[in-house]
Amino acid sequence: MRTILAGNWKMHTDRADAVALAQGVARGERAAGVEVIVAPPFPYLEAVVAACEGSGVVVAAQNCHAEPQGAYTGEVSVPMLKDLGVGACIVGHSERRQYFNETDAAVAAKLEALHGAGLQPIYCCGEGQAERETGRHFDVVGAQLKEALGKLDRAVVRGLVVAYEPVWAIGTGLNATAEQAQEMHAFIRKELGRLIGDSAQDVPILYGGSCKPSNAEDLFQGPDVNGGLIGGASLEAGSFLQLIAIAARVKA
Ligand code: 13P
Repeated sequence: MRTILAGNWKMHTDRADAVALAQGVARGERAAGVEVIVAPPFPYLEAVVAACEGSGVVVAAQNCHAEPQGAYTGEVSVPMLKDLGVGACIVGHSERRQYFNETDAAVAAKLEALHGAGLQPIYCCGEGQAERETGRHFDVVGAQLKEALGKLDRAVVRGLVVAYEPVWAIGTGLNATAEQAQEMHAFIRKELGRLIGDSAQDVPILYGGSCKPSNAEDLFQGPDVNGGLIGGASLEAGSFLQLIAIAARVKA
């Protein structure tokens, strides 16, 4: 099974910070066996690709448009990302669903476009606080998976990296317990199994939501937790490298 540590920089950094952070990650001491991804804001993708060249660090976008080109003012297509040397893309992050009305149908179209172009899609799902508190978290995540992935070609689903990001744990300092993370990851793998059978065993499922060096050791213990999608703790090379080292040790 792959182990992946991905840093989502969201709308943070300026050009100089982005390059310095990328260099810090790219040049940092890294244990073998962990795939490392960084997702800077769009304007810094090219500079970060240059900073990561030859290091094995894959650069991801945080969003894309499903159409290869056209009259979509302000959007960025998958071929444009590929042209810049981008290798992966986050899709369906809860912040995009919440603030930009991204639907499961739009998510599905983006996943298809990325798969077609050979970029690694990182598909995000996760429940909100009220849904967790009322015990509907499995229903909500199950519905997200069904709506976004249910109609896709099996090959697209087989090629996904999935990120479970409970919305109540994102940027809040609250994190799922290791038990909550593992039980949801196992549920996601079971649901993926309905779509792609045994191949679901090979789909990496990352945890995201206030994951940091102080709790990662616990969170990464779960057999279905195959790494992390990290926000705040990826904005500092030292803490991100620490998380990579923890993942390497726990998953060795
Ligand atoms: P935090 O690690 O800051 O909670 O963010 C998680 C996240 O949304 C990564 O995509």
